[in-house]
Amino acid sequence: MNLDKIFKNNQDWIQGKLAIDSDFFHKLGRGQSPELLYIGCSDSRVTAEEIMGMGPGEVFVHRNIANMVIGTDLNVMSVVNYAVEHLEVNHIVVCGHYACGGVNAAMKSADLGILNPWLRNIRDVYRLHKEELNALKDEEKKYDRLVELNVQEQCINLIKTATVQKAYKKRGLKVHGWVMDVHSGRLIDLKIDFEGILKNIMEIYHLE
Ligand code: CO
Repeated sequence: MNLDKIFKNNQDWIQGKLAIDSDFFHKLGRGQSPELLYIGCSDSRVTAEEIMGMGPGEVFVHRNIANMVIGTDLNVMSVVNYAVEHLEVNHIVVCGHYACGGVNAAMKSADLGILNPWLRNIRDVYRLHKEELNALKDEEKKYDRLVELNVQEQCINLIKTATVQKAYKKRGLKVHGWVMDVHSGRLIDLKIDFEGILKNIMEIYHLE
């Protein structure tokens, strides 16, 4: 792949933006106030802004293998803290996707070196929902369901944080769980019961 193409694409992109709004980059330079924090998978097929039809300045983005929200991961926790407390986003989306390589790797017994501790968090999701998953005899259905349950558990991990609990109380911040179907491009809202989960886990995870 010749990377020169990227710089040519970039020039075309700049011209395209300026043709619609000659002030576009002047406005971008002034700062950002996105409404949404998107936490997605690093998978090259699931492009954050493009699948949502959003542009520069509209979404704060964090991506990692299998869209994980791990309490001891300083990277994701810093992103959540900055987005919620400083940028004051009103929505956090955890977006997984079917055919996720990270979720697939966690379903198999294999030593993947440095990836082991990361994938262990997905194996924990499997363990939490073992009964439901083992009842699914179709491997493809089981795989899809683990993708969905992983998104749900990462939403719960967000709700466990003091940052999210405080912002919910203060201004009604919401957490959403979505899945992108890479076979059709469709974005699916899993309709995670944010308030129900919040009420349920507060007994143990109440922080603020
Ligand atoms: Co993935």
